[in-house]
This record gives sequence, structure tokens and C-alpha cells, in this order.
Amino acid sequence: MSTAISPTAYNYKVVRQFAVMTVIWGVIGMSLGVFIAAQLVWPELNLGMEWTSFGRLRPLHTNAVIFAFGGCALMATSFYVVQRTSQVRLISDGLAAFVFWGWQAVIVAAVITLPMGFTGSKEYAELEWPIDILLGIVWIAYAVVFFGTIVKRQTKHIYVGNWFYGAFILVTAMLHIVNSAAVPVSLFKSYSAYAGATDAMIQWWYGHNAVGFFLTTGFLGMMYYFVPKQAERPIYSYRLSIVHFWALITLYIWAGPHHLHYTALPDWAQSLGMAMSIILLAPSWGGMINGMMSLSGAWHKLRTDPILRFLVVSLAFYGMSTFEGPMMAIKTVNALSHYTDWTIGHVHAGALGWVAMISIGALYHLIPKVFGRPQMHSVGLINAHFWLATIGTVLYIASMWVNGITQGLMWRAVNEDGTLTYSFVEALEASHPGYVVRMIGGAFFVAGMLLMAYNTYRTVRAAKASEYEAAAQIPAGVAH
Ligand code: HEM
Ligand code: HEM
Repeated sequence: MSTAISPTAYNYKVVRQFAVMTVIWGVIGMSLGVFIAAQLVWPELNLGMEWTSFGRLRPLHTNAVIFAFGGCALMATSFYVVQRTSQVRLISDGLAAFVFWGWQAVIVAAVITLPMGFTGSKEYAELEWPIDILLGIVWIAYAVVFFGTIVKRQTKHIYVGNWFYGAFILVTAMLHIVNSAAVPVSLFKSYSAYAGATDAMIQWWYGHNAVGFFLTTGFLGMMYYFVPKQAERPIYSYRLSIVHFWALITLYIWAGPHHLHYTALPDWAQSLGMAMSIILLAPSWGGMINGMMSLSGAWHKLRTDPILRFLVVSLAFYGMSTFEGPMMAIKTVNALSHYTDWTIGHVHAGALGWVAMISIGALYHLIPKVFGRPQMHSVGLINAHFWLATIGTVLYIASMWVNGITQGLMWRAVNEDGTLTYSFVEALEASHPGYVVRMIGGAFFVAGMLLMAYNTYRTVRAAKASEYEAAAQIPAGVAH
């Protein structure tokens, strides 16, 4: 995978590395998802060992899919987009390589420590303090490469996709540093620097904005480049994209308390979080509409282009999950949905339908470009992947809706004398069929990822180093 280093060429090496690792971590992280889904169907699969228990593998799944799969997808595409829209090579090949290897080191450290039970016990921020410090350093290097490249750009304005990537990088750094503040008591044990309700508030300020900036804003950056590119149409409204950007980043940061309804958090903070979450529907849908409408005049391409289908369906799931989220943030709705599988269904409508689908679409566009190939090895396999992913996602979220509402209603049912109508185990038994369907849906999704891995392997194997180099040349005076 080596290319000549030349200022007249883009650094596609780091993009190729991150792109290939996205596929590999995607297969691993989602297979783990299917495995823990199977554990909820057959508890024997915990295998009687602490390392393979649900409690330890669940955070491994979330870290692997969010930070390994999602993170690599964001880094591959942001490095690709920032170079092409700035018409300049990344500012430093050495620093870019550090970001790649440093990020893989963080992931490997997570893969080792989480099953061993080392955890800071904050959701999506489980990693212990030495790994947190490494993560912080890698992230700062990432910010330097990204923003440094923007500073060196050869174009006049900064393309809107880069605004979204930039906000994602800055806010993630802020969230990580504030929420991970801890007092170490040994090499692998630390305690949060905050206490009680304050600790909970900071954790969910982090948690919700991990969703808002890592799983949403970064992927919107991806959307703003790859949707118009693949549709070969300009973005529907540049003005809307700017309004969308400022409204989204201003509102997201306030919505965290909706994770703490009916807790020790002050009531006014819960209500504020609820109100901000409802308002958040507007910018979210603004972004979705902007993406969808960019297909004006290109809808017919959906008949033949499975990559475009991935991108459009991801926007549909984005619209759906950002409608569902504000509804679940309403206190009375949350009283039913919280603690149930409805939340899990909502998470995966966003995670599979939006995050994974848009990443997959973007990668099918990007992989042939950075390997100097005209297209992926097989368009038929992309199409098969599209159907497996769509059916898998629908099976997952539909089964979790049924389970969630069933659980919520059974838990709150009371007899005339005030005693509970159902025991917890009865609600669990009622959930069993849903767990089977979710596992099957997940297996569909992973089967699609395996097709992608094979398709990528064949595309990469067919590529030659001379083709990589030709593909990376910066064409003089051409806007991308
Ligand atoms: C084949 C695909 C997948 C399967 C089968 C799967 C399965 C699961 C299962 C069984 C859980 C635990 C649910 C529970 O505790 O009751 C879970 C949690 C979670 N998964 Fe996945 N998953 C998949 C893909 C993904 C992807 C691609 C992402 C993110 C990009 C993701 C993000 C999460 C998150 C954030 C949670 C924690 C949810 C919460 O705490 O509310 N998953 N997943
Ligand atoms: C306007 C947008 C959104 C709003 C207002 C929103 C709101 C909510 C609410 C109210 C919950 C349930 C909290 C609870 O009862 O514990 C939740 C959970 C969650 N949402 Fe969203 N959501 C939005 C979009 C998204 C998107 C697009 C994604 C994924 C890409 C996502 C990922 C998650 C995750 C991972 C959780 C589970 C957190 C946990 O408990 O571990 N959300 N969201």
C-alpha cells in the first residue's frame, strides 16, 4: 500500500487504511452484536466465564461499533473530503499515520481491557484512564491534521461538509476531556472527578452529545459530500445547510437531561432537556430534507444505483430516529419507554439505519476512488448487501418496538388492589420471541457486511500501486 509522497498528490494512503479497517471493525463489532443478541435468547452462551459474559461483551460491542467502525469511517471520509474540497494534501503524512496507528492502538486496548472487566463504568466512556489519555492525544493529532489542512486550503470557502466534520472533532474533544476527568487509584482503576447527580448530569451531557456530535454531526459531514457526489447533483440548498449547521450544534448540547427523567436531577433541568429535544426535531429534519431534496432530478438513478439507495435509505432512517427521539424525550412517553427495549430499537434505528448505512454507502463510493479502480468489484453484491442491511434493520427495530411497548405496559399494569399484574419474569418471557427476531435481523446485517468485506477484498486485490498513484494526483484548477 505504498505511494510516492508528492505535494501534487492527495494522501490517500491513510484514507485507504482507515477504509479497510472500517470494514474489518464493522464485521467484528456487529458480529459481537449478534453474539450478545444470541446471549439474550440463550443465556447459556455466556459460557460460564466472566470474560464472555453479557455484561462485559456489551460495552465491547458498543465501543467496537461506535469508535472502531464509526470512528474509522469518520476518519477515512473526513481525510478524503477535506483534501478534495480544499484541493490540497493533508498537512503532515507523519501525523496522519500517527492518527491511524494511535486509533487502532486505542481500539486494541479496548478489546483487551473491556472483557477483562477494567471499566470506568460510564456508558460509552468505559475505557480506563491510561487509554483515555492516549485517546485524547490521538484526537488532538487528528484535529491538528484536519484543521491544518483547512488552513492550507487552495479554495476560497470551506465546504459545508467540513463545518460538520470540524464541529464533530472539536466537540468530541471537549466532551471526552470533561467527562473523563478522574482520580486514578491504580494503573487500571480510577474514580470520576464528579459526584452524585452532578456526575450523572455530566455523563449524560457527554452521552447525548456523543450521539449528537459523534453519531450525527460527523455523519452529516459525510452526507453533505457523498450524497450530492453520488447523485451528481448540487446540494439542494446551501443556505439551508448553514441554518441546519448552526441550529443543530446550538440545540444538541442542551438535550442530555432527557436520559435522566424522573431521577435525582433537578426537575427544571429535566424539563429543559425535554423542551430542547423537541425543538431539535426542526434542524434534524432540515438536514434530512436537504439531503433528500438533493436527489431532485436524479430519483431515477435509484433504480440502478445501489450505492445511492444506501445513502437515501440512511437519510430516511435518520428522519425516523430523529422523530422518534424527541417523542421519547417527552416525560410521559419516557415513563413508558425508559428501561425497555424501545430504547434499544431507537438506538439501532439510528445506529444501523443511519450511521452504518450512510458509512457503507460512502465507502462503496470512496474505496474504488482511493484504490484507483473504476468501481467496486461487483455492483450485484452491493445490491444484495443493500437488501440484507435494510431487511436486517427493519427486523431489528420492529421487534424492539413490540418488545419495548409490551414490557412498558406489563411493568405498569396493576390489579384493583394495587398489586402488580405481572411479575418481571412474565414480561421477560413475553420478550423472548422479539429477541429471536432481533438476532435474525442482526445476522442479516452481518451477512451483508461479509459481502462487503469480500467485495472490498476483490477490489483491493485487483488494484495496482501505479493506479493508486494516478488516482491521488490533484488535478489543477478543478473543483471537487
Ligand atoms: C448486526 C448489528 C447489531 C446487532 C445485532 C446489535 C445488537 C445489540 C445488542 C443485543 C445490544 C444490547 C441490548 C441490550 O442491552 O438489551 C446492543 C446495544 C447497543 N448497540 Fe448494537 N447491534 C448491532 C449494531 C450496532 C451498530 C452498528 C451500532 C452503532 C453504530 C450499535 C450501537 C449500540 C449501542 C449504542 C448500544 C447500547 C444501547 C443502549 O445502551 O441503550 N449497534 N446492540
Ligand atoms: C433529535 C434527535 C434525537 C433525540 C431528541 C433523541 C432522544 C433520545 C431519548 C429521549 C432517548 C431515551 C433516553 C432514555 O430513556 O434513557 C434516546 C436514547 C438514545 N439515542 Fe436518541 N435521540 C435522537 C436521535 C438519535 C440518533 C440519530 C441516534 C443514533 C445515531 C441516537 C442514539 C441514541 C442512543 C445510543 C441512545 C441510548 C442511550 C443509552 O441509554 O445508552 N439518538 N434518545
